[in-house]
Amino acid sequence: MKTWLRELPKVELHLHIEGSLEPELMFALAARNHIELPYASIEEVKAAYDFSDLQSFLDLYYLGMRVLRTEQDFFDLAMAYFERAHEEGVVHVELSFDPQAHLGRGVELAIPFEGLRRAMREAEQRFGMSTALIMSFLRDRDASEAMTVLEKASPWYEVIDAVGLDSAEVGNPPAKFAAVFERARALGIPRVAHAGEEGPAAYISEALDVLDICRVDHGVACLQDEALVERLRNSQIPLTVCPLSNVRLKVVETMVDHPLPAMLEKGVKVTLNSDDPAYFGGGMLDNYVACFDAFGWDQRVFKQLAGNAIDVAFMSDARRRELV
Ligand code: HPA
Ligand code: ZN
Repeated sequence: MKTWLRELPKVELHLHIEGSLEPELMFALAARNHIELPYASIEEVKAAYDFSDLQSFLDLYYLGMRVLRTEQDFFDLAMAYFERAHEEGVVHVELSFDPQAHLGRGVELAIPFEGLRRAMREAEQRFGMSTALIMSFLRDRDASEAMTVLEKASPWYEVIDAVGLDSAEVGNPPAKFAAVFERARALGIPRVAHAGEEGPAAYISEALDVLDICRVDHGVACLQDEALVERLRNSQIPLTVCPLSNVRLKVVETMVDHPLPAMLEKGVKVTLNSDDPAYFGGGMLDNYVACFDAFGWDQRVFKQLAGNAIDVAFMSDARRRELV
């Protein structure tokens, strides 16, 4: 089954490219950029990745990404991920990045945009992969800062496939970003948002109502609200679920407790994704295999999940036809 899952053409819709930074590359970039890390060895980094919740992960995620300073760093980061994803049978990747986490360190917008774009073009040429770019806003920072970033990103509007919303969820409800997402809508930029990861089902409804999003990132809290489940089933608005992430951040206790089977049972359009593969113990293939080990799904279920992602990906119709 693992061989079959590797060969299944998979589509990744929820990936923070900064969360694909493996400890080995973190050390190499720290040396290249003369940045001190608070870790003595790669083993020490790995030992530190023992998270109690989302915030405990975010602290190390923002710490690790300090080694990313130049366009070449972002290129190397994304290329390393594309190589691994290609080996795992991933045929389309939508990478999100957090410009505010870089601007705050003096890394101007052009650096991630140009480095990531160059890697995306190279992955398309070398691996025949398709790719898309999502610019995410940090919800634990002021909405006015997100608005400034959106305006500053105007030279790249053509290459932004969507804007997103991530970081610490509880206490930072979607409505805080109503004006920013309204501006993105006016610019014709599609919108996605993390909702219902650690936050309540009400944040999912609010993100749909106020931010007019076309996809929900995570959304595992939807089962708390029957009316919302009904709405998600009827609208077929997709959820980008990240099972290994949910286990590592203690959103669920173990894989077998994960609500994915219940979500499928209720007819919600779910997809499988890796979120931050360097921090959560695996990429796309590991997430698929973990679901097989926990739920024993047959090939039909995995084909449906991969097919759901193809249906809702930011890709051309010609590319979609190639993949179905
Ligand atoms: N949740 C919220 N914000 C994030 C995550 C996540 O899993 N990964 C990177 N930023
Ligand atoms: Zn995420």
